[in-house]
Amino acid sequence: MIASGPTREPLDPVRFLSNQSTGTIGRYLVEAARAKGHRVTWINCPETVQTALELQKVLSKEITQHDVLVMAAAVCDVRPAKLEPAKIKKDALRSIRLVKNPDILAGLGKKKGRRVFIGFGIESHKILENGYKKLKSKKLDLIVIQEVTPKKIPFGDRPVTAYLLTADRQVQCLESIPKQKLARVIVREAERLAKAN
Ligand code: CTP
Repeated sequence: MIASGPTREPLDPVRFLSNQSTGTIGRYLVEAARAKGHRVTWINCPETVQTALELQKVLSKEITQHDVLVMAAAVCDVRPAKLEPAKIKKDALRSIRLVKNPDILAGLGKKKGRRVFIGFGIESHKILENGYKKLKSKKLDLIVIQEVTPKKIPFGDRPVTAYLLTADRQVQCLESIPKQKLARVIVREAERLAKAN
């Protein structure tokens, strides 16, 4: 199962909070996995589901039917506390009260069993240290960290600098790799980890 793209957190019928994710790596992951003959369920945000809570619900329901989860979705960390049923007039829009969204991957940990969980992260510094912290706290087998600096923008269909960190402390640094190629590497890693589990 592959989840990708940005969640959208609505404020009213015309406005939402979201992020810069374009879902590119998700499309390439699906393509790469299908090319290797795998059956893929693709949860493509915001088309398949919009919000973090909807994504959590669908992943939690579907996870037992899958042996690998690739969680590339860019989940909004917060959402507006209240969804206004009518459009808010601009003069009434002074501030937005936010509440935290759940950590979906961490929550799925209790259903992990022998499943392979692959997560993603974006870091500007202390890439390995922060990457391993996330890998551990979310009980992942592999985390793909993409570097973001003023010159290295990981959004859209462009080469990225990616670090693949595994629970057994192997590190691969892929400097300026096209996302299509990165997706093939991730699928190969998923196959290797699934065999080992
Ligand atoms: N994730 C999740 N639920 C959230 C937020 C993120 O499941 N509410 C998943 C993402 O899909 C991704 C990984 O967790 O696989 C990213 O972890 P996170 O700690 O959110 O990374 P960052 O957003 O990079 O965190 P920070 O801003 O703290 O660096």
